[in-house]
Parts: sequence; structure tokens; C-alpha cells
Amino acid sequence: ELYNLRQIEADTKVHGVIGNPIGHSKSPHLYNAAFKSVGFNGIYLPLLVDSVANYISTYSSPDFAGYSYTIPHKEDGLKCCDEVDPIAKEIGAISCMIRRPDDGKLKGYNVDYLGAIAAIEEALGASNGAPASVSPLAGKLFVVMGAGGAGKALAYGAYEKGARVVVANRTYGKAKELASKVGGQAIALAELKDFHPEEGMILANTTSVGMKPRIEDTPLAKEALKHYALVFDTIYTPKLTTLLREAQEAGSTIVYGTEMFINQAFVQFERFTGLPAPKQLIRDVLARNT
Ligand code: ATR
Repeated sequence: ELYNLRQIEADTKVHGVIGNPIGHSKSPHLYNAAFKSVGFNGIYLPLLVDSVANYISTYSSPDFAGYSYTIPHKEDGLKCCDEVDPIAKEIGAISCMIRRPDDGKLKGYNVDYLGAIAAIEEALGASNGAPASVSPLAGKLFVVMGAGGAGKALAYGAYEKGARVVVANRTYGKAKELASKVGGQAIALAELKDFHPEEGMILANTTSVGMKPRIEDTPLAKEALKHYALVFDTIYTPKLTTLLREAQEAGSTIVYGTEMFINQAFVQFERFTGLPAPKQLIRDVLARNT
């Protein structure tokens, strides 16, 4: 069963995912199973919410320990926090909210980008055997395509890990604005195909180019992909985008968009419980519910 309200006791930590629609969300399956598997006294509910402001002011009792946020409420959620993590503020959206046990205040975070960065690091670490203490992204040239919410998140994430960031965007002005915030370089997306100052770069696509139904489209010409050691795509419908397929053909390591979601679930679980995430169980639950 998904959850059982009779299991709520005085010290049960109640969580929920705020979205609209919410019926399709895999998060309740994932977190309830994961809480149970590590013996954490917690429960996780799907919350169909129209207005985050109304929900937080009317229904969010101090008994709620934390929330996840999903479409379309990640931006509204940010406005309803008592405190916001600085990176979430820059990105302009939160993915989770945690109640501080000492004063009951709700603090918002964005861990979506941590999921993407962790997936990329794992793929790089696995291929070059770098020690866990030093990010395999440190010193790398990290090219982010797109400068929207996801582009900002990836650019800040890479910057935090010591990468040299390049922002490539269709609208050059937005690339420039974001690049200046992370001490990076800006380039028009159309010119990225001729940009290869060095080999072994990292590429992350955060544009919607290649998403269903236009799955033949790709944000970067195939000829350019050989300069990249690793290519990540935030798109997960389809799982194997044209960009990822061509990158694979060019010999790059590829990281699927689905890995971003799985890894951010690990991060959120750890924030909610203070315990290490049961990674294999989470992967299994997601595989069963897709
Ligand atoms: P998200 O929150 O998923 O990042 P967004 O904020 O709407 O979504 O950002 C969409 C990104 O995809 C933008 O960088 C956008 O480029 P512009 O800033 O020039 O609009 C990019 N994008 C969308 N459609 C595109 C297309 N057909 N070609 C190139 N870039 C595109």
C-alpha cells in the first residue's frame, strides 16, 4: 500500500509533494517505501494544491516536516518560504521545503541541480577513478546549453564544483547575464558548433530541443560532439535523445535525464531523514512504477 494514515503517531514525520496534477507522481511510492526500508518513522502524501500561498497559510500545520515541489509550483513555492537557500533564490525555484525543528520555520532548497551534478560526477568518477573528496568536475570546461531555470541550476552547480563554465543560449543576452554570475563565458547557441578550445569538455543540454514529439531535433550538430568527454541531457522523454545517441556514436560518455530525477530523490531523502538513501531500493521502486 502507498501509505496508511493510521500509522501517524505523535512523532511521525509527515511529508508531502505539492503539485497540480499530482495523481501521476511517483514520489509517494518512492519515499514511503524508502522510509519503511530504513525504519524511519515518516509518511509521504500526494497533495493536490491550487494555490501554494493558500495551502501554506491555511493547511500546513507545524506537524508537516517537509514538502517536495513539482510542476507548476516550484516558483510559487519559493515565495512561501520563511527562508530560501541562496542558490534556490538565484535559480528562482525550489524543489523542497524543510521545517527547521528548532523554530518551525520553512526553508526552501533547490536540489534538482544537485541530482544532475551528482549523476555527472558519478559517470566521470567511474571512468577516471577520481577520489571522492575532489570533484571530477574541478577544472573541467563545462558547457551549459540553455539559460532558463534548468540552465541556471546546472551553471551554478558546475561552478560550485570548480568547473569553468560556458553558457550557450539561443538568446545571447541571457547567456551573458548567467555567465557573468558564474564567472564564465557566454556564446550564442548557433556558434557552439565551432567552439572547441580544448578536448574532453562536458556538455549539458537544458533547452527543450529534442523533446517529444520533435525527437529528431538536436541542439548541437553531431560533428561537434567528438570534443566532449561526457554529454548530459535534462530531457527524459525520450530517454535516448538524438543528442545523446549522436554523442554515444561519437564516443562520449552519456548521462540520461532520468538520472537527474533519481539522484535528486537520493538528496531529498537524505535531507528529510538525515539518513543515507537506500539507492537500490529507490531505483527499483521507480523502475516498477514507470
Ligand atoms: P527550463 O525551466 O526547463 O530551463 P525555460 O526557463 O523555459 O525552461 O528555458 C528554456 C530554455 O530553452 C531557454 O534557454 C531557451 O532559449 P531562449 O532563452 O533563447 O528562449 C531554450 N530554448 C527553447 N526552445 C529553443 C529552441 N527551439 N532552440 C534553442 N533554444 C531553445
